[in-house]
Amino acid sequence: MIAAMGRRSLRKVSPELDWAPYLLKVEDLPRPWSRAAVFGSPVDENGEIVAIDDADVPLEVELGSGKGLFMQRASGERPDHHFLGLEVSYKYARYSASRLAKHERTNARMVHGDGLAVFREILPDRSVTAIHVYFPDPWWKARHRRRRVLNESFLVDAQRTLISGGLLHVWTDVEEYFESTLELIRDTKLEGPLEVPERPAADDMDFRTHFERRTRLHDEPVYRAQFRNP
Ligand SMILES: C[S@@+](CC[C@H](N)C(=O)[O-])C[C@H]1O[C@@H](n2cnc3c(N)ncnc32)[C@H](O)[C@@H]1O
Repeated sequence: MIAAMGRRSLRKVSPELDWAPYLLKVEDLPRPWSRAAVFGSPVDENGEIVAIDDADVPLEVELGSGKGLFMQRASGERPDHHFLGLEVSYKYARYSASRLAKHERTNARMVHGDGLAVFREILPDRSVTAIHVYFPDPWWKARHRRRRVLNESFLVDAQRTLISGGLLHVWTDVEEYFESTLELIRDTKLEGPLEVPERPAADDMDFRTHFERRTRLHDEPVYRAQFRNP
């Protein structure tokens, strides 16, 4: 088990990269929530702003993006979705934003700050199509367990913010965290766990996240589940 992300493994962000438009602070998020304010509005061939209904553009939110592999790849695979990555570490949030800038992912933004607060205070009811939580910090010691992001109050927010049919994805390399999360979710209305099979990686970066990559390259098990909001 790899307990912490190695500091040395973070590459330098190129000074030429204009990552700032891809990085917001929790305090700067619009209240009330506005997708147009966060992602901008598309313009037509005459330069006129096109009004889009949020319901037509699925919103996917990742809690704890780390180095941003998921944000980069998923926003490229689903260009018609919006992606919001939440990361409490400025260094990682900026690094992830730089990946989005490098790949010109206009449909994706990083938010620096406490992602739990974004769910608790900002995201409206039934506004999110998918919530992604990959390899959350395990907080091994019993007295630190309450710091875990997969906690009862987050799960209440997950149910509230997910649309009907929306999915909560939970992957971890910590079996005990996985089992205790399944137990917490059993007390909610979320349906599952739905099985998520492991598939072979098609290339060296074909992993959901950096932690998945590192765990699998070490031949260690990954516990995966998804849950559907009724
Ligand atoms: C173990 S890392 C995993 C990163 C990434 N998901 C992966 O699989 O490679 C957990 C990440 O969650 C972030 N994190 C922890 N608590 C958070 C919170 N309340 N809000 C946003 N990010 C958080 C940490 O800073 C860290 O980058």
